[in-house]
Amino acid sequence: MNIQALLSDKVSQALIAAGASTDCEPQVRQSAKVQFGDYQANGVMAQAKKLGMPPRQLAEKVLENLDLTGIASKVEIAGPGFINIFLDPVFLAAQVELAVVSERAGVSAIATPETIVIDYSAPNVAKEMHVGHLRSTIIGDAAARTLSFLGHNVIRANHVGDWGTQFGMLIAFLEKQQQENAGEMALADLEGFYREAKKHYDEDEAFAERARGYVVKLQGGDEYCREMWRKLVDITMTQNQITYDRLNVTLTRNDVMGESLYNPMLPGIVADLKSKGLAVESEGATVVFLDEFKNKEGEPMGVIIQKKDGGYLYTTTDIACAKYRYETLHADRVLYYIDSRQHQHLMQAWTIVRKAGYVPESVPLEHHMFGMMLGKDGKPFKTRAGGTVKLADLLDEALERARKLVSEKNPDMPADELNVLANAVGIGAVKYADLSKNRTTDYVFDWDNMLAFEGNTAPYMQYAYTRVLSVFRKAGIDEQSITAPVVIGNERESALAARLLQLEETLAVVVRDGTPHVMCAYLYDVAGLFSAFYEHCPILSAEQPVRDSRLQLARLTAKVLKIGLDTLGIETVERM
Ligand code: ARG
Repeated sequence: MNIQALLSDKVSQALIAAGASTDCEPQVRQSAKVQFGDYQANGVMAQAKKLGMPPRQLAEKVLENLDLTGIASKVEIAGPGFINIFLDPVFLAAQVELAVVSERAGVSAIATPETIVIDYSAPNVAKEMHVGHLRSTIIGDAAARTLSFLGHNVIRANHVGDWGTQFGMLIAFLEKQQQENAGEMALADLEGFYREAKKHYDEDEAFAERARGYVVKLQGGDEYCREMWRKLVDITMTQNQITYDRLNVTLTRNDVMGESLYNPMLPGIVADLKSKGLAVESEGATVVFLDEFKNKEGEPMGVIIQKKDGGYLYTTTDIACAKYRYETLHADRVLYYIDSRQHQHLMQAWTIVRKAGYVPESVPLEHHMFGMMLGKDGKPFKTRAGGTVKLADLLDEALERARKLVSEKNPDMPADELNVLANAVGIGAVKYADLSKNRTTDYVFDWDNMLAFEGNTAPYMQYAYTRVLSVFRKAGIDEQSITAPVVIGNERESALAARLLQLEETLAVVVRDGTPHVMCAYLYDVAGLFSAFYEHCPILSAEQPVRDSRLQLARLTAKVLKIGLDTLGIETVERM
């Protein structure tokens, strides 16, 4: 159950009954100003202003109309017109009892499931996945998992860069390699392959000529070029799939919806934009001039959608792609996990999309952007030699470091168990470090921080989870077997219970804003509250019925941590 939503409803009814307008939207939130776990309603002041009434007077009237019987034990006016709501321990106990037996820890499935397309990962063909794609992959996957958990119909769209003029060069180079009998070999090293191809293109005029010819042929559907192209895509995506699997990311080959998919739509789009008077010929190219964007001279910015030579652009593809997601995939909402440097590109594409009426305003196109991954020196994250960090190498290092860490802590653990643990911790650390930061800012990639057992890190969270499980293990109790009622007997218990019951409202924020760090902060809080509870409220040595009631709280803690970490794509283990 979403307690916050329930309280918001009640407060807004009371506000309306007290004379406020029907569209008032009071904000009820968990407030640090009130005791932990309780709520504060905001919005009375704004309504009072509209009504020309002293805020406290309106607040009094709201209280007269606010019926929170069975939910709150106390409601009071605070400050200039806030309403503080103190949850009733009996209500909390009853909610915990419901949540603990529910597989979803009491989180209700969404009432009206939507079809939500999530554009994420999107590596490029014949290039190794790099750190830019890491952030998109990890954060996008957390969004996909969270939305699916709530019951939405999620379509994962891996917008692979599998189209463009560079394919002429790549095909020409693959051909050259095959003629020299080194084709398959050379492609194992994608970066090297791309670099060599580019070098030939820049230095060998005959090669460049051939490459340009292949672009045209490929776009014309030439069988030979298509086959060479497919080879390039296949080899790249086979390598990337290994990375996805290692990362515990849910993307599969079936989710690939590369740029090429939209290729057949492009001529029609250009023609349509022309006929609608949005696109015009300019110096041989086809351009859409947008008033919304100004160039350096302060004039409307021209967005090229077809080049002089007939080629289409990244923007043309994104226009088609948005149209496709609405028309063909029937998206109700589309989320794009792309770094912030592409913001202007997306805004231009979507401005055209809206003007052309390809996607109605009622269907949000959202850029969930993120900053860069920086090294400890504050500069873009690079290898010591200054090169791009390959994802595969990064994950190897994570594993290596985690293995060292966990084997020091568990010298007697059998090797295969140690491997599983090192994998969960190492990969978890890399992912969690990213997920736990507000995605919009750059973040510093720091091995020592992310692998620390203290603070908001994967190892800490994973360890916290095992600690809860160990309560049951120590006592030899099967957690399913406890059916005892819950009694909230003190403040530690009520703080933990109230926070545990906020899983649903936390999920609601994560899916609204696409901000998994909110989930991380929540889980970190839960772990901290459990620690405090565990320290001050003996569980196994307590008398009945307190003992079983506390076991129920521990059980719900385990459940909430597990579900939360699952929605983030962070693996848990039973012991560490
Ligand atoms: N492949 C692009 C890159 O590596 C990202 C694509 C993002 N998605 C999109 N619809 N433009 O930068």
